[in-house]
Amino acid sequence: MKEIFPGVYRLRSGIATENNTPGFRVYDEKLLKMEGSEYRTWDPLRSKLAAAIMNGLTEFPFKRNSNVLYLGASSGTTPSHVSDICPDGTIYALEYAKRMMRNLFIVCEKKKNMIPIIGDARFPERYAQVIGPVDVIYQDIAQPNQAEILLKNTEKFAPRYAMLAIKSRSINAVKSPKQVFREETDKLRDRFDILQTIDLQPYDKDHVLLNLKVKK
Ligand SMILES: C[S@@+](CC[C@H](N)C(=O)[O-])C[C@H]1O[C@@H](n2cnc3c(N)ncnc32)[C@H](O)[C@@H]1O
Repeated sequence: MKEIFPGVYRLRSGIATENNTPGFRVYDEKLLKMEGSEYRTWDPLRSKLAAAIMNGLTEFPFKRNSNVLYLGASSGTTPSHVSDICPDGTIYALEYAKRMMRNLFIVCEKKKNMIPIIGDARFPERYAQVIGPVDVIYQDIAQPNQAEILLKNTEKFAPRYAMLAIKSRSINAVKSPKQVFREETDKLRDRFDILQTIDLQPYDKDHVLLNLKVKK
């Protein structure tokens, strides 16, 4: 098993993270014991960050001690892997759908570096008081104005890096995905260097993940 990014390991088929809560599973991932540690397989069909890694992500913004604002935490699938990757940081897992909260709370209770936040990503001023310093914003929410929401959160929390999952059909179902991705990316150019645009097929249709570095 080879460490391809800090905290991310390549298996014979697929990838895994080192489980910071041995014995605890979040979805239907496999737990593998190797060389005294436990690893959780990471399913690219369930996680856009895993899909981006499988599809050739080149620069990884997360470190062991990164503090991450995760917008659109849902029931905690990808946030739980980010928690494994950043065991010495804090993951602020924000979600607004109450139906997702039960599972997210269970995950956050086990994974001590995750803090669940009920909130709406469109209004960062409403949750800013419960967030500490942020190194990376990861945003995966199906909203028509995804770029504007990221820009607002970037203004508020001043991260160094951001990752944005763009779902073209949430923004415009009539325009071609290519055109939607180009227009959304153009909205971000003043504030970010676009490090990479990763097409998530075949794991996710009509989605890209943008890897972004905040301009100084
Ligand atoms: C595609 S799911 C996220 C999946 C998750 N990132 C993962 O990989 O495990 C998108 C989530 O964003 C949430 N969401 C959408 N708009 C939001 C908003 N304005 N504020 C907070 N969460 C939002 C939805 O309720 C949904 O749970």
